[in-house]
Amino acid sequence: MRRKMIILFGLAVLIQWIADAQAQDQWSWPEKPQNLQILPNDWPGSRLAPVMQGFSRALGVRCSYCHVGEENQPLSTYDFASDANPNKERAREMLNMLGSINDHLKKIDPSGPKRVNMWCHTCHNGRPRPLTLEEVLVETYQLQGLDAALNHFDQLKEKFYGRGVYDFENENTLNSFGYSVLNNGDAAGAIRVFKMNTEKFPKSANVWDSLAEGYLEAGDKDNAIKYYKKVIEIDPNSQNAKEALKKLGQ
Ligand code: HEC
Ligand code: HEC
Repeated sequence: MRRKMIILFGLAVLIQWIADAQAQDQWSWPEKPQNLQILPNDWPGSRLAPVMQGFSRALGVRCSYCHVGEENQPLSTYDFASDANPNKERAREMLNMLGSINDHLKKIDPSGPKRVNMWCHTCHNGRPRPLTLEEVLVETYQLQGLDAALNHFDQLKEKFYGRGVYDFENENTLNSFGYSVLNNGDAAGAIRVFKMNTEKFPKSANVWDSLAEGYLEAGDKDNAIKYYKKVIEIDPNSQNAKEALKKLGQ
């Protein structure tokens, strides 16, 4: 009896699985979209498809980012005509914006042989919100603290390194972020960030100078002196380090 139940249960799961797989297969682009407000409303699904795929690629997201539907569920369960997902309205405003940007672009006489058009990916380049790396770090820091910001840095690096989207190889990114942390009254946190930067850019006098300033703010004069001396080692003309050392009685 028990065995039979298990077999029946297994069969039910299998039937559900086949039904899901069929539902997934059965979705196709609508012949007549119901709710196009910006794109031409007589566009059939076949014209809509490359645009939607382009949106997804430009922002590095899936359909569910802008539509009502759950990730990993078949597309037949999505409600594409619904406007309940606020990102859909945001995307509409973006379409309007892009139209007006391209109207302006048409007014100039381009210096090159061909007109340069602007696309979603020109700004977004694989990100839903086109922030600079420093802006992302500051935003995450303000919302969730330093550990979260530094984790975010690692995650972005894993995903985007080498794609030219975020400037990982620029000492100013972590340096400016470190000053945001310092100006927030967190000298110990700023020292962590500046230290990371000295590990990445050990030949830059400026990043050591920031680390020294972090220690100075933290009231750790010994380390401030140590790192201002390091600045002078790299850049014997550093006026800032010389003055700081003088003030520190050196
Ligand atoms: C960045 C946001 C965004 C992404 C990602 C996106 N869409 Fe859309 N989609 C829109 C917007 C905005 C409209 C409505 C355009 C308008 O009003 O002219 C729309 C309309 C549609 C429609 C027409 C619905 C109707 O009946 O009116 C379909 C179908 C659709 N999208 C499918 C998809 C599919 C499939 C994907 C994933 C491959 C996708 N979309 C990804 C923003 C998006
Ligand atoms: C001129 C640059 C630019 C272009 C072109 C552009 N966007 Fe954006 N987009 C932005 C900026 C900046 C934001 C962030 C706004 C904010 O959060 O304050 C944004 C935000 C969005 C968001 C909201 C994302 C979120 O998570 O909050 C969506 C969706 C979006 N854009 C879709 C598009 C689509 C689709 C296109 C092409 C039709 C497009 N964008 C073209 C600059 C641009």
